[in-house]
Amino acid sequence: MADLPSTLDQILQPTGQEKELLRFLTCGSVDDGKSSLIGRLLYDSKLIFEDQLSAVERDSRKHGTVGDEVDLALLVDGLEAEREQGITIDVAYRYFTTPRRAFIVADTPGHEQYTRNMATGASTADLAIILVDARKGVLTQTKRHSYICSMLGIRSIVLAVNKMDLVDFAGDRFYQIVSDYVGFAKTLGFATISPIPLSARYGDNVTVRSERTPWYDGPTLIQQLETADVASDLSSRPLRFPVQWVNRPNLDFRGFSGTVASGTVKVGDDVVVAATGATAKIARVVTFDGDRDRALPGDAVTLILGSEIDVTRGDLLTHPDARPECVDQLAAHILWMSQDEMLPGRSYLMRVGTAETPASITTLRHKIDVNTLEHSSGRTLALNEIGLCNISTTHPIAFDPYSENRRTGAFVLIDRTTNATAGAGMISFGLRRATNIHRQHHAVDKAARAALSHQKPRIVWFTGLSGSGKSTIADLVEKSLHARGMYTMLLDGDNLRHGLNRDLGFTEADRVENIRRVGEVAKLFVEAGLLVICCFISPFESERAMVRALVEPDEFVEVFVDVPIEECIKRDPKGLYKKALAGELQNFTGINSPYQAPTESEVIIDGVAQSADRAAEQIVTWLLAH
Ligand code: ADX
Repeated sequence: MADLPSTLDQILQPTGQEKELLRFLTCGSVDDGKSSLIGRLLYDSKLIFEDQLSAVERDSRKHGTVGDEVDLALLVDGLEAEREQGITIDVAYRYFTTPRRAFIVADTPGHEQYTRNMATGASTADLAIILVDARKGVLTQTKRHSYICSMLGIRSIVLAVNKMDLVDFAGDRFYQIVSDYVGFAKTLGFATISPIPLSARYGDNVTVRSERTPWYDGPTLIQQLETADVASDLSSRPLRFPVQWVNRPNLDFRGFSGTVASGTVKVGDDVVVAATGATAKIARVVTFDGDRDRALPGDAVTLILGSEIDVTRGDLLTHPDARPECVDQLAAHILWMSQDEMLPGRSYLMRVGTAETPASITTLRHKIDVNTLEHSSGRTLALNEIGLCNISTTHPIAFDPYSENRRTGAFVLIDRTTNATAGAGMISFGLRRATNIHRQHHAVDKAARAALSHQKPRIVWFTGLSGSGKSTIADLVEKSLHARGMYTMLLDGDNLRHGLNRDLGFTEADRVENIRRVGEVAKLFVEAGLLVICCFISPFESERAMVRALVEPDEFVEVFVDVPIEECIKRDPKGLYKKALAGELQNFTGINSPYQAPTESEVIIDGVAQSADRAAEQIVTWLLAH
């Protein structure tokens, strides 16, 4: 999830004095007075720059709605323009400080794409202010925001009942809302809910105690924020040190750099690599300013071990007595953040801390309606939807459940075509199913089988539009290899769709599954020592990358049969383009379903200029040369 802008972190250590930091989130819409509240906090803590302030005073005389007072909402709305822009995320981080604490507030716009924006802000927050309009009380939106806060691990809630001035500061109205909210929130697992009656606009109970709420003797908002017990106390948790990079400037120095996610690591500690179980002692803890005897959560350090063990980027170093789970099957809540819906079976890049692995969602267990908290069934997730999913990863992942550690339990899924964040996840638990099934080692392996036939087993993967000539060229390639005494197998889309894949159609989800199965079959044939020639439109980059990742890097050869759509329409060997253009065929590639042309194929065939024979020759020559 989005990191804080580094400038904020710089502001936080201006003079080396360390003030306790509270990260919080405000939830609510502009109507609830969110902008006014943040503006009030910034204004009263005098962190507004003079020039901004005079601009606001000018503007509020022009547009303001609060008479002679400065309209603080205008200040915040004005700052919106400058806010940090992630790729798809819209969250502004603001910083202010009081003598007791420093604060970072994540301000997330309450409009449409609320879920992913909120999730981004909430993922690093210790506390959330849930704003409620005193006139309206607890709304669906209040519940939705509370649920997302709960899901993202926030345990401290401030229930800010705002606009008390509009209900004449009536105590019974306030207590009614508090009782409604507490009743609703029972199941959400918050540790504390602190209700405060306030008026952000006029400042009542924000930083100054209001004389208009004599029936309320709790803290003001700022007192609550200054004293809230949110010590997430990462230092007393088990040690988690995700290795960011292996630092090896010369042969005498080999250190592992990263930031301590939780726990404490000391010189002399035994540590273990979570994934492999290799152990070593900590010899030195090195920082920019020299050696130290220990490192705490948040410290960026380089660890030097007493003995040489295998450690790579993405490994998690921990203490031997508190190792995390390490699995390749897990269940997690996923919040979908992409316009392209989540497709089960599609390969995404999963990033957990510094570790990265291809992963796919095997099943959507259920979707969760964030308004009602009801569960429903479904196959895919659309933008802003949340679901509990089973995930399968290519490499085992060391993790903690998100409820125990938000650093090592959170991940993002990255779209392999666009490199954009497609989803954010919170791991619930590992699934042990696959760990009870162990791979068997056989004496005769791929190398042994290939040695008998004196050939290099490989997948030769043809991709291209329907009618581009893939099957014709592939046929000639196989004939030529066969004549040279090589052992081959040919898998063709049209043929496999009569058997193994007869249950699949041409929706995006079905094509993903089609290629997933074909990839697994091709991999088996590679293990049998064969040259496997595959002809599939395979229109999506993600699935081609997935098959490529199934075998060794030099075992996958992509052949792009490049023929423009106009030419394919002209050829139309099966009459399918005619049908598709007449609207009689749905999801036809190139007409009403996309084809993502590959950009890094090993072999590119100009299917217009070149005859099928010449193309086959080009491919065979390439294969023999490599
Ligand atoms: S893929 O997209 O999933 O890779 P595959 O290569 O298996 O497709 O099958 C493509 C073949 O199915 C085409 O060559 C064509 O003969 C036939 N076909 C039937 N309907 C469609 C369609 N809607 N889109 C593409 N091909 C189709």
